[in-house]
Amino acid sequence: MTTTQTTMSQPLRNATVQTAADRFGVIERPDLNFTPEVVEATQEAYEKVKHIIPAIEWAALAPTIHAINTLKKERNAVILAHNYMTPDIFHGVADIVGDSLQLAIEATRTNADVIVQCGVHFMAETSKILSPEKTVLIPDMKAGCSLAESITGADVRGLRKRNPGVPIITYVNTSADVKAECDICCTSSNALQVVESFGVDKVFLIPDKYLAANVGNKTDVEVLIWDGACEVHERFTAQELRDYRKIEPDVKIIAHPECPPEVVAEADFAGSTAHMIDWVKTERPEKVMMITECSMADNVASETPDVDFIRPCNLCPHMKRITLSKILDSLVEMKEEVVVDPDVAARARVAVERMINLKS
Ligand code: 13P
Ligand code: SF4
Repeated sequence: MTTTQTTMSQPLRNATVQTAADRFGVIERPDLNFTPEVVEATQEAYEKVKHIIPAIEWAALAPTIHAINTLKKERNAVILAHNYMTPDIFHGVADIVGDSLQLAIEATRTNADVIVQCGVHFMAETSKILSPEKTVLIPDMKAGCSLAESITGADVRGLRKRNPGVPIITYVNTSADVKAECDICCTSSNALQVVESFGVDKVFLIPDKYLAANVGNKTDVEVLIWDGACEVHERFTAQELRDYRKIEPDVKIIAHPECPPEVVAEADFAGSTAHMIDWVKTERPEKVMMITECSMADNVASETPDVDFIRPCNLCPHMKRITLSKILDSLVEMKEEVVVDPDVAARARVAVERMINLKS
């Protein structure tokens, strides 16, 4: 509720900002019972996850899944979920799933009033940047990212000052402040295309030094780096991959380009999370190892029952902050709302839209 009265002499900027809960109202948390109605409503989702979620665990999850799906309609909300979400979220409640680029594009297309971003904070900010009129919620405000935290807008201004004329491309895994200072965004699925789009011999690709090095290995453009890294992907080593191949000589290894270049060099294929999933669906290897966050293999396995997933994996602690229970709380209490300063958002939008327009 607003508590500050506004009058003609007390301008609007003094008014208490209305929260999403003020605008939409808070509703009662629904009862969570494993009723026959819940069993029936969640049966289709269970078929997709039963290889990974035992029936006894499903009995505990299904009531929350059903409650979220019911509330989504009431709130005219859409759930955007990154490929790293756990299978209960990915197959149970998500309306749209994908990699960072796909989610950014879908955020521009939805007619929903509310976006619940099941991913990390920079993803929710990107949705808000692209859809300022929509209410964007993230189930846990602390879901961050080691890459986004490695650089600030002031750092980019410093880079620009020291390197006049060199285009600065930012990976989408950055804050709105950083995007606002950069020329264009990229994701792991279009980084090479973005780097080459400038037609110059030197660009910055920040803040992931490994993504920048991997892209640099595929182009004649000199790709300058910032010293950031993904805490999940940088833990994989080339020796680890060679050891796996000794144990499983027939395995196909596919890696995310946030991995160090020597890891990517050991892999049979490297690409964004969506490209990795597409590769498995198309190539149908007998055995595959996905060198990325753990939940990816769980999510794709239901659609490729003929593929044997060997599962070395690292968990992203930030992605794993997003749970079914917190998604339900988001929809009940309309929290946590992601707000971006309108001036920053307008400048950041230019960088994100340049990337999206480049794709089409
Ligand atoms: P993509 O889904 O774009 O490949 O990004 C992976 C990632 O680490 C997102 O945080
Ligand atoms: Fe950030 Fe890495 Fe987690 Fe992705 S996997 S959110 S890049 S820390």
